[in-house]
Parts: sequence; C-alpha cells; structure tokens
Amino acid sequence: MNLILLGAPGAGKGTVSKSLVEKKQMVQISTGDILRNEIKNGSSLGIQAKKYIDAGDLVPDELILGIVESRLNEDDCKNGFILDGFPRTVSQAEGLKKMLIKNSFKIRAAADISVPEEILIQRLSSRRTCSNVSCQAIYNVISKPPKTDNKCDLCGSELIQRSDETEDAIRHRLEIYTEKTAPLISFYSQTGEYVKINGNQDIDSVVNEVLNVIK
Ligand code: AP5
Ligand code: MG
Repeated sequence: MNLILLGAPGAGKGTVSKSLVEKKQMVQISTGDILRNEIKNGSSLGIQAKKYIDAGDLVPDELILGIVESRLNEDDCKNGFILDGFPRTVSQAEGLKKMLIKNSFKIRAAADISVPEEILIQRLSSRRTCSNVSCQAIYNVISKPPKTDNKCDLCGSELIQRSDETEDAIRHRLEIYTEKTAPLISFYSQTGEYVKINGNQDIDSVVNEVLNVIK
C-alpha cells in the first residue's frame, strides 16, 4: 500500500504520516525531513538545500528526484510507503511516475489534506519540532503540547521552531504552494488518483478519513 500525501505547508502531512506509520507500519518518506537531516549533517546536499529551505523556496527538482529515487530503492519501501511533501511540482510528479513504473510500485491515492489558509498560518506559527533529526516529532503549543515543557515526549530532546517558520518564509511557502504545487490537484485528478481530505478537523478524524481511502 503506497500513498501520496498532498497539502499546503502546515496542512498536517507530517502528523498524519507519523500516525499511519504507527497504525499501518508504512514507511514515511518526507523530503523535508531528509533535507533537514542532510543540513544537520553538513553534507554537500544539505549545504545546497539550506538556502532554498530557509527562504521558503523549493529545492531544485533534480536534487529532490535523486533523493527520492535512492530512498525508494531501500528494502523497507516494499512494506508500503507514504510520500510526505513529494511530489511538489508537475515535473516531480512526472519523474515519480517513471520511478514507480521502473520499480513496479503502485500508488493507491494522492490524498490532499485541505485546510483554509488562516488556519495554516496559525498552525505553522505555533508548531514545535523535535530538534533530534532522527526523531523530528511534531508538536503544537495550542493543539498538541508536549507533556514536559519544550521537551520531546519520545526522545527528550529540545523542541525548536524550524528555520522556515519566520513570518516571511511562511507567507512565501504558501505562495509557492499555490503557484507550483496546487497544479498537482489537476494532475492527479486526471490520473483518477486524487482524493480530497478535510484537514480542518481534529487529527484523529483526519487520520480516519485517510485510512478509509487506503483500506
Ligand atoms: P516540508 O518539511 O515538507 O514542509 P511543508 O510541506 O512546508 O509542510 P510542513 O512540514 O510545514 O507541514 P505539514 O503538512 O507536515 O504539517 P504538520 O504535520 O507539521 O518542506 C520544507 C522545505 O523543504 C520546503 O519549503 C522546501 O524548501 C524543501 N522541500 C521539501 N520537499 C521538497 C520537494 N519535494 N521539492 C522541493 N523542495 C522541497 O502540522 C503543522 C502543525 O499543525 C503542527 O504543529 C501540528 O501539530 C498541527 N496540526 C496538524 N494537524 C492538525 C489538526 N488536524 N488540528 C490541529 N492541529 C494540527
Ligand atoms: Mg511536514
């Protein structure tokens, strides 16, 4: 069972993915998490990606396609994967289509978590993320606070705001979403894989809607 999770910044892709990993033993492939890991490790990919991420711009398609292609070749993907934050442009979606054919993978749906823009801004400015890059658990000071102030419930590391959570970067990410990523709605409607999910409800209800799509 393989799934694409579409949705604007702050829609809840990461939160839903982590819940599906627990419930369905699927693998989460978050291009954002992979890039933040590379930045923390100071790799050449991380150095190239950092300036785009901090400004709220998309990292070039060829870098992203290379990351996903090598991740899909890992053994654990055979148990089912969730693509979180990829594809994000029509050219990435076309690249993905070729990779899926090459690896004989099928996608059950492109589930689009839809949330009004004012809620997205609120969620992004109140999000906290675990600073441990191999954890990157997601919290929210309003809707999902940690048990101990500013500490991750899972690994005890400090919680931080991401470098792309400044007001300017958030606004820019939302503009880029409308310009470059929203056209995927029409792309996946044409393939018959598009499913719209109401992301403006409590997280368990969002997860249940997605589970209904993949059951
Ligand atoms: P990425 O890390 O993918 O960020 P994003 O898509 O902008 O999305 P977010 O991670 O900000 O939001 P989310 O939908 O995961 O929401 P979350 O679950 O955290 O990408 C970052 C950057 O990397 C990009 O800008 C780009 O530079 C680069 N990049 C990554 N992939 C790329 C690609 N394919 N191509 C090019 N560049 C790429 O939830 C948000 C908050 O809301 C949390 O606090 C959560 O607790 C809360 N919340 C979630 N659901 C609910 C709910 N139902 N009710 C109440 N609160 C909720
Ligand atoms: Mg995310």
